[in-house]
Amino acid sequence: MKDRYILAIETSCDETSVAVLKNDDDLLSNVIASQIVSHKRFGGVVPEVASRHHVEQITLCIDEAMAEADIDVEQLDAVAVTYGPGLVGALLVGVAAAKAFAWANSLPLIPVNHMAGHLWAARLVDELEFPLLALLVSGGHTELVYVEEPGSYKIVGETRDDAVGEAYDKVGRVMGLTYPSGRKIDQLAHIGKDIYNFPRAMIKENNLEFSFSGLKSAFINLKHNADQKGETLSNEDLSASFQAAVLDILLAKTKKALAQYPVKNLVVAGGVAANQGLRERLAEEITDTKVIIPPLRLCGDNAGMIAAASVCEYGKENFAPLNLNAIPSLSF
Ligand code: KG4
Ligand code: ZN
Repeated sequence: MKDRYILAIETSCDETSVAVLKNDDDLLSNVIASQIVSHKRFGGVVPEVASRHHVEQITLCIDEAMAEADIDVEQLDAVAVTYGPGLVGALLVGVAAAKAFAWANSLPLIPVNHMAGHLWAARLVDELEFPLLALLVSGGHTELVYVEEPGSYKIVGETRDDAVGEAYDKVGRVMGLTYPSGRKIDQLAHIGKDIYNFPRAMIKENNLEFSFSGLKSAFINLKHNADQKGETLSNEDLSASFQAAVLDILLAKTKKALAQYPVKNLVVAGGVAANQGLRERLAEEITDTKVIIPPLRLCGDNAGMIAAASVCEYGKENFAPLNLNAIPSLSF
């Protein structure tokens, strides 16, 4: 059978990324231009700054991804693009670039949900067996998704307030860490001790919902009260205690979901899936279901995952017209 090549574009937040995928899982290139240095001093992503960077980077990234893949434009079969969820101005840059590229080269355009992308990153390292359950944990989302078969997604639980990555970044800011602070907190947690008993919201409730705002507030209050008294708390112990609470919640709800939805695979993906503590707890505690976690380089935002997710849409000829728009609050 003829090889299939898909060019994919991801610009939903602060990474401009372009990838070329050959067939189902052969990632020929996955160029990622990170803007983190520009956002760090603001303590978070500034949407306008993100859009401007995407405009500057997108054609350079397309050229680099094609050069690295070492194929001709004529060999491409489709262009895939993230059209939501994400920052509207950031998404629009990728969508406009993908539409122009598709039109200029007479290629079909495949619209991809960013969260489906995180989930399908797992396909680049392993075969997925269905039905599967996905725990998707990123800076903007925390959700449990039941996937009956490729392309059929059902959210069975999600956060009522903050996303888990957002909570990491907010408590990191309070500890004086630079944005994004998830990775640093993970490292500090491995050195510190779990000595502060932070709340584990809704952990005993018989549902698959998450809540992290109470945990975040408890953390901030503890830190502010200590500051007012002139006491210094160790960032290591704070991190260890915060991470223990987060992981207890994630593990409890995931186990509950697995009991309710017997599946062949558990996929854990999104930026927070890079967390070493989470990986350790999953390995120790989820032993009845095969757990698939993408490698670190595919956990954060990247176009390789968008290409992987587009394969099943390509098979169904789920192509978008050239008036495709960005949908910032797109859900499954
Ligand atoms: O998926 P992602 O790259 O972007 C979004 O779609 O949001 O996720 C970014 C989030 C940030 O909040 C970052 O702090 C968090 O992932 N993160 C981590 C770790 N590495 C990145 N959180 C906890 N532990 C980590 N090792
Ligand atoms: Zn993401």
